[in-house]
Order: sequence, then C-alpha cells, then structure tokens
Amino acid sequence: MTKHLLDFIDLTPEEFDHLYQLCEKIMKHPERFVHAASGKVSASLFYEPSTRTNLSFQTAMLRLGGSVIGFSDPGASSVAKGESLKDTVMMMSNYADVIVIRNPWEGAARAASLYSRVPVINAGDGGHLHPTQTMADLTTIRKHLGRLDNIDIGLCGDLKNGRTVHSLIKALSRYPNVRFHLISPRELKIPDYVRKYMIEHNQKFIEITSLEATIDTLDVLYMTRIQKERFTSESEYNRHKSAYTLTRAKLSSARNHMLVMHPLPRVDEIHVDVDDDPRAFYFQQARYGMYMRMALLHELLKHPQETPVSVAIGGSRCTNPRCITQCEPYLPALEHDGCCAYCDKELK
Ligand code: NCD
Repeated sequence: MTKHLLDFIDLTPEEFDHLYQLCEKIMKHPERFVHAASGKVSASLFYEPSTRTNLSFQTAMLRLGGSVIGFSDPGASSVAKGESLKDTVMMMSNYADVIVIRNPWEGAARAASLYSRVPVINAGDGGHLHPTQTMADLTTIRKHLGRLDNIDIGLCGDLKNGRTVHSLIKALSRYPNVRFHLISPRELKIPDYVRKYMIEHNQKFIEITSLEATIDTLDVLYMTRIQKERFTSESEYNRHKSAYTLTRAKLSSARNHMLVMHPLPRVDEIHVDVDDDPRAFYFQQARYGMYMRMALLHELLKHPQETPVSVAIGGSRCTNPRCITQCEPYLPALEHDGCCAYCDKELK
C-alpha cells in the first residue's frame, strides 16, 4: 500500500477495494479493532478550520486504541513564531507514527511528505485535493448505488475551489462510463488539470450553469459550498454565494434512487427541508468517513519509520500564487508531465 496518501490516485483501484472491504469489516465488528493501533500516535496538524475531518481522524485513531497529538489552531503552536512547514513536520515525525495535515496552501501535504519519517495523509491542501473525503464519497456511492462505474453524477457549486470535487472527479475517472454533469457559475468551473484528467481517461462530461436542466438524469447529486475563504474579494464571493440551493421542490423531478451528497459543512446549498428525504445521504456520508479513516490508518500504520530520501531539484519553479512553494522557498522545484508536482498547475 502507498506510504503517503496525498492524492486519491496514490491508491490503486485494488488498494481502494481492499480499504473498502476492511471498512466493511470494521463497521460490522468494531470490537475486533479496539487494540489495532495500541501504542501508536497520530499527529493532527490542522492549519485551517475543520470539524468533520479533524474530529473523524481523531475518533478513528482513538477507536483503534491509538492516541492523538497535534493542533487545530496553528496560532497556538510554533508556527506562530515563524517555524517552517519542514521543521514542524520533521519534529512531528519524530513524535508520531502518522501525520494528518490540513493546510491552506496547495501542495502542502506533498511538501510535508518530503521531510517525514512516517506516512503523511492529506486532509485538504487549499483548493487542491481532499483524498480522504473521496474515500467517504466513494463508499457512500458504492454502498447505496451498488457500483462506481456507469453512473451519471452531477457536481454542483464551486467547482473551481472545491477540493473535494477535484479528488472525487479524479477518483471516478478511473471507472468506466462515468458521465460528469458539472454545474457551476461560469467563473467557478473546474481547473484545467481536472478537465485534462477526465479527457485522458475518456470520460464524458458537460459543463453547464443550470441544476434544473439536468437533475432528472442523475444517479448522484453532489452539492458543494461556495468556498468563501478562497475568494480574494468579498464582492466576488457575494456575487456567487447563493448560486444554487437544492430544495424539496427541486428534488421532485429527480429520480427515486438519486443520492444527494455533500461533503459538509453546508451553508445554504441544501435547504433543511431536504434532510428528511430518503435520498439525503450527507450525514451518512460523514459517518462512512470515520470508518474509512479507521481502515486507512490501520493500513498506513504498518509502514516502518524511515528517514526520508532527499529529493533532487528538477523542473521550473511554479508561479501559482496559491502553491506551497510560494511561501516555503526552500522547497525543491518538482515537475510531473509539465505541471508542478505540488499543486498540479501547468508550468509555464
Ligand atoms: C470540505 C473541505 O474542507 O474541503 N469539508 C470537509 O472536509 N468535509 C468541504 C468544504 O469545506 O466545503
């Protein structure tokens, strides 16, 4: 199994299947796993707000019999004194057996992995990726639709900045016959590297602005929040903030088996009157997230501690203002297929 989980596609489809089966076992017999991580410590480094991801990772570790250290407010750690990501990670990987990191900069988890003796899990890097949310999302779809291939999925909202959307599209692109209905304001369309990934995997997709135009054709509707924290101007956010609201009335034209999903937190994208509809799966989805994180920790904790190998400097420096290389200048330039290996933006 992959040592670090930085991008969902670090897992092969077989590795994801294995985690899914393990997750099922844990859900059925949690009592068999209460000592699985006994004596192990996870470090949660949360540089950005979080409820579900941070607390579900912590609960997952505690339910496996392990312990948790870390911070959820970088202002209360040495980060406030100006400590670099590299130094924080090198220290934490002396103390812990696994590191779970969330950071506002794109590519921060990959940067952390360069200096860590222990597995690093990306719990969200800016508007880039969020692979463990995808584990919860795929589990929900597979359990309740019975398949991951041959589906029509609508992704609606802030597709530009929504990291859960980017990871989910990449993950589903590896299954045959997935049709993506990408519903967003024109200014909030998916980034180029995500579009490129769907094209390379021969997936069909449409980019539209109307939810009503497509809702009756979907097997899954994945609503997302307009990502306020990624906007540079308040007025731009205000222009988009209530772009889409799913209501019970709008659901009346949807199929009976359609799953309504959302990574949460919601603001006003799903009206509370949808919560009691049998198609509403978002709270269940968050529950699967905890069990999937147990399965992931269970497997990654098997890796021995190793001094990281130093990485050769290669490629041009990234110019994306949101890339981790902009604020941690000692990081080596890293390139894959003409793109920055941290944030996936095309290198000019
Ligand atoms: C998401 C995130 O942080 O990207 N939340 C989560 O982890 N479940 C979605 C969001 O914040 O909108």
